[in-house]
Amino acid sequence: MQINIVRPFMPDLAELQEDFAQCLKSGMVTNNSPHVRRLEEKLQEYYGCPIRPSVNCNGELALYHLIQAWKHKLGCGPHDSFEVLVPSFTFSGTINALVTNNLKPVFCDVDAGLVLDLDKAVADSPNVRMIMPVGAYGNLVDLEKLGALARAQNLAVLLDNAPAFGSKFKGKFPWAFGFSEMISFHATKVFNSMEGGGNVVNDAEIADYLLRLRDFGQFEKSRGDVDIPGLNSKMTEVCALVGLRNLEKIKRILSLRAGNAARYREFFGGLESRGLLRQMRVAPEVTCPYLYFPIILNEEATEFVRHMGAKNIAVRRYYTANHDLKFYRGRYRQQDLGFTNAVKDNVVALPIHTVMSDAEMDYLFESVEEYFESGKRKVES
Ligand SMILES: Cc1ncc(COP(=O)(O)O)c(C=O)c1O
Repeated sequence: MQINIVRPFMPDLAELQEDFAQCLKSGMVTNNSPHVRRLEEKLQEYYGCPIRPSVNCNGELALYHLIQAWKHKLGCGPHDSFEVLVPSFTFSGTINALVTNNLKPVFCDVDAGLVLDLDKAVADSPNVRMIMPVGAYGNLVDLEKLGALARAQNLAVLLDNAPAFGSKFKGKFPWAFGFSEMISFHATKVFNSMEGGGNVVNDAEIADYLLRLRDFGQFEKSRGDVDIPGLNSKMTEVCALVGLRNLEKIKRILSLRAGNAARYREFFGGLESRGLLRQMRVAPEVTCPYLYFPIILNEEATEFVRHMGAKNIAVRRYYTANHDLKFYRGRYRQQDLGFTNAVKDNVVALPIHTVMSDAEMDYLFESVEEYFESGKRKVES
């Protein structure tokens, strides 16, 4: 048996054929085209939010523009800079989007939920003006606590929720707490449009900037006049079509994932109670769709990765500690990273697909058991 790290959930060609043929015939394949607008309407229905979400060609540019929009709202031009509290333990895309916006990350610790540790992150300089938690594996920080912290320390809040489509806190989406979140619709994600991403925000000014920024910053189309320099990050019709078809099935997708995650939690809970590993802690207030199933081994993960590879099960050493990456090492400030440094080499993301048979899950669980029984495990002293 072979289990890949992801198995993208895709519509059948037959579901798209007619609409795509129509797009090609009309020539309306991009530029605020009908299916892109429809996807935004459907996302608004799904999120139940007062402001229509905007979509982009990928999550990274959606995040880039969200940061740009907030900088502009805070009265800063492209050459101005300030510091941003952000977890070191994330995908490099989080940090890259800040740095390419001329902002400086302050690397902060994560907690047992593998999300920003709000008890430790502190605006320790007047230069810190923003906080950007990451929805790692679909998990969320306590959004009420985040709001209180941001108010007390006068920080703008942006959520890099690339992996967190469908994640909720106390049954509510982040916009309901007043926050802006970016979500990725990449093929590897819970909901996908092949490539894609978008922003769900609760601020009319930010929403307006986002629409311009994805279209070169133009506000006056006939003259092409620009009020903030944007880029081209528009989504194409074919991606919107795939997104629309997948969004129709989102309830089923999320319920299948919840069922699979419950099985994983039961199995890995057993190993955790034997002291062999730790699971990501998910607070009872959080609805987490589990993009991958992360585990924290007691030891460095190389042997585990090799063992699973020999079983034809792809696992990923994901995320990583960005303060340790080649470009970022020593370049920016960091706060106490005790937990991140203790776990960064021990975390492994396991595959958990939307459609996954019982036989596949049993095989994965047996293979993990074998690792612990085989003596392959080299326990670090
Ligand atoms: C935390 C985080 N931020 C940003 C991104 C970028 O999203 P995209 O791949 O859609 O560009 C990702 C993608 O995996 C991510 O995990």
